[in-house]
Amino acid sequence: MRTRLTTLAAALAAAVAFPTAAQDAAQGAALAEERNCGACHGARGIAAQSPMPSLAGQPAEFVTLQMILFRERLRDAPPMPDMAQGLEDGQIEDLAAHFAALPPGPAPDRGEADAARVRDGAALSQKLNCGVCHLPSYAGRAQIPRLAGQREEYLVHALTQYRDGTRRGSDTNMNAVMYGVTDAEIGALAHYMAQR
Ligand code: HEC
Ligand code: HEC
Repeated sequence: MRTRLTTLAAALAAAVAFPTAAQDAAQGAALAEERNCGACHGARGIAAQSPMPSLAGQPAEFVTLQMILFRERLRDAPPMPDMAQGLEDGQIEDLAAHFAALPPGPAPDRGEADAARVRDGAALSQKLNCGVCHLPSYAGRAQIPRLAGQREEYLVHALTQYRDGTRRGSDTNMNAVMYGVTDAEIGALAHYMAQR
């Protein structure tokens, strides 16, 4: 699985010609302010409302890749393709450096943990190898996103789309992982990850 993923990362990097310019989190912060990313994703990258994902602590490569996919209209997730228009590669890298540097944390409206669902989610995660790619801490790495502390309903939304094959513009790893997973299981996985 690791080998497959390395090949995938290399293919993606080649496909989008990953820029190597120095990243500048301070410039990224100014640009995020100017472009008002915080209105939806939270002033410190922790989203306070549905259906926005938190971005704080996301690996820079993940944010960079997704922003390029949005800009090229290869990932169709409104309103992001419109938001990403006109951004140059260097600006996207700056934005990514900014969000990667922000300390991650739970959504301000996160509810109490439900012990039974946390247990179910942990067991499913074990069975389906989520931690092999997303890391056992679910902090993500490279082009693989952080899941720990993400908004629960965003996780449900993303996982349901992967299972149903309706998340356009992503690679197929997650479709394979989520094949045949039930709604109840998706709920448990999302609850568990959101509580990390
Ligand atoms: C009007 C609200 C809004 C604004 C402003 C906005 N976003 Fe988003 N963003 C969203 C929503 C909603 C999603 C999730 C879309 C989906 O998956 O259906 C998203 C998704 C993303 C993702 C993918 C995250 C993931 O975990 O898959 C990134 C990266 C992102 N936005 C970055 C930015 C940046 C950088 C800016 C500022 C340049 C910005 N967004 C401005 C609403 C917004
Ligand atoms: C083979 C490696 C691999 C495994 C195993 C895996 N993932 Fe992923 N996951 C990825 C990659 C790569 C992405 C980014 C894919 C894309 O382009 O959408 C991703 C994306 C996601 C996202 C979207 C997050 C966001 O912010 O947009 C969620 C949620 C997710 N995975 C949850 C899980 C869960 C839960 C499991 C276990 C049931 C799991 N993953 C197992 C590789 C993996």
